[in-house]
Amino acid sequence: MYQKALLILATIALCAGAQKVAEYDYVVVGSGPGGGPLACDLARAGYSTLLLEAGDDQGDNPTYANLGNFEKAGSDVLSRWDFWVKHSDDQEREHRFHKTTWQLPNGTYYIGLDPPKEAKRLGKQYPRSATLGGCAMHNAGVCSLPQDEDWNIIVNKTGDASWTAQNMRKYLAKIEKNLYAPTGSAAHGFDGWLSTTDSDLSWTKNESLPATKIMKELAKLLGHKESDATTLAKTDILGDYPNRDQISSLYSMVQHQDRAGKRSSPNNYIKATLSDPKKYPLTVQLNSLVTRVLFANGTKLPTAIGVEVMTGQSLYKADPRHKVGTKGQTSRIMAKREVIVSGGTFNTPQILKLSGIGPAEELKKFGIAIVKELPGVGENMADNYEGSIIGIGQTPAGTFTPVGAPGLTTAIFKTSSSPKNRNIYTWCGPFSFEGFWPGFPENHGPNQYECAMVHIGPKSQAGYVHLTSADPQDVPDINLNFFKNNGDQDLQEIVEGANLLRKSWQAAGSTVLPFNELHPCPGTGAGNCTDAAQREYIRDQTYSHHATSTCAIGGENDRMAVLDNKFRVRGVRNLRVVDASAFPVVPGAFPVLPTYMISAKAAEDILAEAKNQS
Ligand SMILES: Cc1cc2nc3c(=O)[nH]c(=O)nc-3n(C[C@H](O)[C@H](O)[C@H](O)COP(=O)(O)OP(=O)(O)OC[C@H]3O[C@@H](n4cnc5c(N)ncnc54)[C@H](O)[C@@H]3O)c2cc1C
Ligand SMILES: *[C@@H]1O[C@H](CO)[C@@H](O)[C@H](O)[C@H]1NC(C)=O
Ligand SMILES: *[C@@H]1O[C@H](CO)[C@@H](O)[C@H](O)[C@H]1NC(C)=O
Ligand SMILES: *[C@@H]1O[C@H](CO)[C@@H](O)[C@H](O)[C@H]1NC(C)=O
Ligand SMILES: *[C@@H]1O[C@H](CO)[C@@H](O)[C@H](O)[C@H]1NC(C)=O
Ligand SMILES: *[C@@H]1O[C@H](CO)[C@@H](O)[C@H](O)[C@H]1NC(C)=O
Repeated sequence: MYQKALLILATIALCAGAQKVAEYDYVVVGSGPGGGPLACDLARAGYSTLLLEAGDDQGDNPTYANLGNFEKAGSDVLSRWDFWVKHSDDQEREHRFHKTTWQLPNGTYYIGLDPPKEAKRLGKQYPRSATLGGCAMHNAGVCSLPQDEDWNIIVNKTGDASWTAQNMRKYLAKIEKNLYAPTGSAAHGFDGWLSTTDSDLSWTKNESLPATKIMKELAKLLGHKESDATTLAKTDILGDYPNRDQISSLYSMVQHQDRAGKRSSPNNYIKATLSDPKKYPLTVQLNSLVTRVLFANGTKLPTAIGVEVMTGQSLYKADPRHKVGTKGQTSRIMAKREVIVSGGTFNTPQILKLSGIGPAEELKKFGIAIVKELPGVGENMADNYEGSIIGIGQTPAGTFTPVGAPGLTTAIFKTSSSPKNRNIYTWCGPFSFEGFWPGFPENHGPNQYECAMVHIGPKSQAGYVHLTSADPQDVPDINLNFFKNNGDQDLQEIVEGANLLRKSWQAAGSTVLPFNELHPCPGTGAGNCTDAAQREYIRDQTYSHHATSTCAIGGENDRMAVLDNKFRVRGVRNLRVVDASAFPVVPGAFPVLPTYMISAKAAEDILAEAKNQS
């Protein structure tokens, strides 16, 4: 009945506009890990679906198609959206960040703390990929599962038992095309759209390789027998083990790619859906910046009926190719059933706020009429803290090529300061990754050796995305507010991680030792500095690229909850959010696989509801 009412409303809008307005069952905004697979699933169920993407399609470009080129993709101007973010409100701390980026008058960048006078400060780069497939097109494709608690907390908040960690595993099985586990393994799927591989660990057979010696020492430090290290290093990181969140051990790194190193991503799934002989009703519209969600007039509850979109290339000001003053053609597109916003952790709250959904005061400040006051939109942001211990040995410790991750030791472990669960995901090898700036990373030569750390379970959750204007082409103000809450605890956990990893390096052997550590404890003293000094370094220099939780799922009585248990924007009809902004807490060490999983769950929820209505 009320579907019919909407149709009438849409028709009125159509007549008023005196031009033909496109209309679909579902309109999905953003083609990343949240929105891309969801649009495919809806179309495959027979519903006409429009997928709107601000960027264009680079799926066949080798920079994006080959996962090993991810660093090049991360800096590539063809998809890059540069967000210049803050890590805190502390000006002095902000100005100590070594990779601060400045724009020079001739258009090039200066990176560092001593810029020429004429340089303009841009800040800390946080790259995002605006292209068909979203950030899954420039990421490293590393897959891990959340800690069980990260799912179970949603059960606690909403009372919906379909969110238990055990039940969520079924979405992994649904989407996965596992290329490494024995066929039929209960923990995995084998005919989904997402190819997953584990790493090539053949190098570990070489006992005299310094990297192998470091790996064995690390196994020992994590409480295992050195002789078990090679076997442990092959452990399936996505496996289903009792007490997995308390086990400190080595694992094989899993990435979303095929055996030839071709990236597996929403881009592939979208292409497969478009080219399927079954002619699924999926339409993809590129170079389309959604500027706001449209609502029906005169309904009791705000009801989404479509979107307003500006078409053209590089319209968003985060795009380094954007030319000042460029505007696109603006038009309306109607959704008969629902609008689903999947613009990612920075853009989804911006789109909601521009549509009148958000904190009342902020909307008033920019003259945006309030459709639904939801104070949590753009708040509660969290991100895995990342840091690294990196040193230069006397000779190479191993060799590194990114495809199949040879030369990498992967581990997840619990530091003694962590009350219950393991809290550090690390990967060690002869590479360098020290965060983000245009043109990252810095190559320190063949003798470089690093253990990169992702801190799991960050406790600050105080980050925000605030509007800077009502102009949808403007970039919001983003502050991650690192370490604001329980910062000392998180810093101590990271320092303990660094101390443990550094110990493993001492097994590298006399050809490599001593390492000249670059940070966090510089010099050849093998950790000859205080924890306090390391804490200070990490507080100032930490970096991140897994932001989540700006439109969090939460309970009925939670003022800051933006979504309910089924991704519905609270107090609004026919509008959902499905992307990394929906997680109430950071989902483990890497968000991309959990985002694919919630995308599959959302498709199931939406289709079940559609079936009930018809
Ligand atoms: C360099 C880098 C490496 C990473 N490596 C890993 C990794 O190895 N493993 C991992 O788990 N995670 C990794 N991540 C993070 C991971 O890729 C993201 O968490 C994930 O892609 C989030 O998915 P999403 O759907 O929420 O948003 P996104 O991937 O950001 O997708 C959002 C999409 O929406 C589009 N969009 C935004 N606004 C609009 C608008 N107004 N109109 C139309 N379209 C719009 C964007 O163009 C984009 O395509 C990495 C991230 C970066 C930056
Ligand atoms: C709602 O009413 C306003 C003012 O009359 C009009 O501009 C707008 O187009 C209407 N919206 C829809 C969706 O019909
Ligand atoms: C840009 O200017 C900087 C110093 O201001 C200079 O070092 C650099 O070489 C210049 N680059 C180009 C491409 O002109
Ligand atoms: C969920 O609530 C139960 C009961 O209050 C509690 O024991 C448990 O720790 C909570 N779990 C999470 C993940 O919050
Ligand atoms: C094993 O590693 C050592 C030390 O780097 C190297 O000299 C040797 O060639 C390697 N052996 C094989 C079989 O690759
Ligand atoms: C360790 O630090 C102390 C005090 O700064 C210094 O005297 C000593 O030489 C250092 N040792 C090494 C091995 O660097």
